[in-house]
Amino acid sequence: MDRDQLKEHLTFAGELGVTGVSRDPAWRTRAEPLILRQARDERPPDVLGVSPSNIEQSAPLAVPSNAAEALASVRSYIGDCTRCKLHTLGRKQVVFGVGNPEADLMFVGEAPGADEDAQGIPFVGRAGQLLTKIIEAIDLARDDVYIANVIKCRPPQNRNPEPDEVETCEPFLFRQIDIIRPKVIVALGKFAAQALLGTDAPISRLRGRVFEYRGAKLIPTFHPAYLLRNPASKREVWEDMKLVRSLLKSEI
Ligand code: URA
Repeated sequence: MDRDQLKEHLTFAGELGVTGVSRDPAWRTRAEPLILRQARDERPPDVLGVSPSNIEQSAPLAVPSNAAEALASVRSYIGDCTRCKLHTLGRKQVVFGVGNPEADLMFVGEAPGADEDAQGIPFVGRAGQLLTKIIEAIDLARDDVYIANVIKCRPPQNRNPEPDEVETCEPFLFRQIDIIRPKVIVALGKFAAQALLGTDAPISRLRGRVFEYRGAKLIPTFHPAYLLRNPASKREVWEDMKLVRSLLKSEI
């Protein structure tokens, strides 16, 4: 990480209310989100004295006190993003995420398509309508879950996101996951599964398995757009969703 990236990182942390960094590995575990714990205790453990407010005087004083506020803070930090080339390639807006900030279940897709780009909401096109049915099939509503993408801006002609775009954008997804702290994450399709798990294994090898990921159980499954082209694979997705339902009910 170079100096500018470090500065941006610390400014971002400051906007989330983090006032220091720690060498303690326990600091990175999934007990209670640091920003919320600090909001309550106002005293971070084992602080090294790096204060983002020393670097960026304009860091807001308000500390998020719940997941909704923390997500809003991340959204506002992203702004009308110009961090990667996608903002020059025809996207209309950043598509951040939608749903319950305290959801037990989170879905992660690849990137917004044309409908999502127009409405600013993930999974609202044909694939999104199928995703809504998949969610309802396990007796949940879209409002119960949280839905986001690895990439927050639409790639031109819906091409695959490129590595530099993923590298720039995925930290925002990681923040969303760390704030929401879902019990179960469903990675929709090869791209999301590979990006989250840091692998290039094919989706055929990843699906059907449960992975530990950032304190959650991660289940890769087929992307709804793939299901629109290959309806026979809905059976496997239904198996995956039954597993999701049982994990949500279990003590994890
Ligand atoms: N496909 C995705 O991966 N994400 C969306 O938001 C829409 C379609």
